[in-house]
Amino acid sequence: MLKTKLWDIEFKNPVFLAAGVMGETGSALKRMAKNGAGAVCTKSVGIEKKPGHNNPTMVEVEGGFLNAMGLPNPGADEYAGEIERIKDEMKRMNVKIIGSIYGKNDIEFQKAAEIMAPHADVLELNISCPHAGGGYGSSIGQDPCLCKNVVSAVKDVSDIPVIAKLTPNVTDIKEIASAVVNSGADGIVAINTLGPGMVIDIESGVPILGNRVGGMSGKAIKPIAVKNVYDICSAVDVPVIGVGGITTGADAIEFMMAGASAVQVGTGVYYRGYDIFQKINNEIEEYLLKKDLKMSDIIGIAQK
Ligand code: DHB
Repeated sequence: MLKTKLWDIEFKNPVFLAAGVMGETGSALKRMAKNGAGAVCTKSVGIEKKPGHNNPTMVEVEGGFLNAMGLPNPGADEYAGEIERIKDEMKRMNVKIIGSIYGKNDIEFQKAAEIMAPHADVLELNISCPHAGGGYGSSIGQDPCLCKNVVSAVKDVSDIPVIAKLTPNVTDIKEIASAVVNSGADGIVAINTLGPGMVIDIESGVPILGNRVGGMSGKAIKPIAVKNVYDICSAVDVPVIGVGGITTGADAIEFMMAGASAVQVGTGVYYRGYDIFQKINNEIEEYLLKKDLKMSDIIGIAQK
């Protein structure tokens, strides 16, 4: 009932693990797979290892979390080994692997894609981290020309679907969505964290995060994510994966009604535990059975 075909890939269900949460090692990905995710996304990896920011890298706020991890990762070559160690078991569980990559320009993205594509089912481009600076993340995703260069460069070296993860921190998300699709993106993930934001400790007067500012995730950003998915789906004709504040089946259904073909869950893991994937799948199924509907009946109905 929840099987979802995107491109030529059949996913056993449409509830995926988002980039950045429980994706730093192969064994963490496997754990999410065992808890019912239809696909799991790696932590974003680049061509060289990066230690990340000083602690604290995460702080809870009302309605969500602010985080600035600083893109910590062991580098694409090393990370590919993490995937190799779990590949057979992932195949046996029929859980697909989305390799998230980042870079500061088309050349870095292309190199990371060449390393990661042979180990993943789908490549996700992080052109949307809101606090990365230095040419990374949203400094690419806020500029349609830079988006085009990165997507085309990755497409040139990839024979698996390439999806672009977009930032909501733009004037016109439809313009960015059209730019990535016109340069060959096979799908879009929306949205990355919002912001950046800041939390200050009033005893010391110091911003709490090691990086001082960080991106906002969690329940509070859901309406913004739904609106972005809605706008993107009205502008382009590729599969869209909705992400941002999803913690229940009802949340996932809302994104589907806006036009999403699948969803990703990140911060939700903190709210409902590792088995949130199984829980959300059960809740979607219950809703569909109760209403006597198929998933295809609800996808995009809010657009009408
Ligand atoms: C980080 C990267 C992101 O894309 C994001 O949304 C939040 C944090 C990071 O590693 O700092």
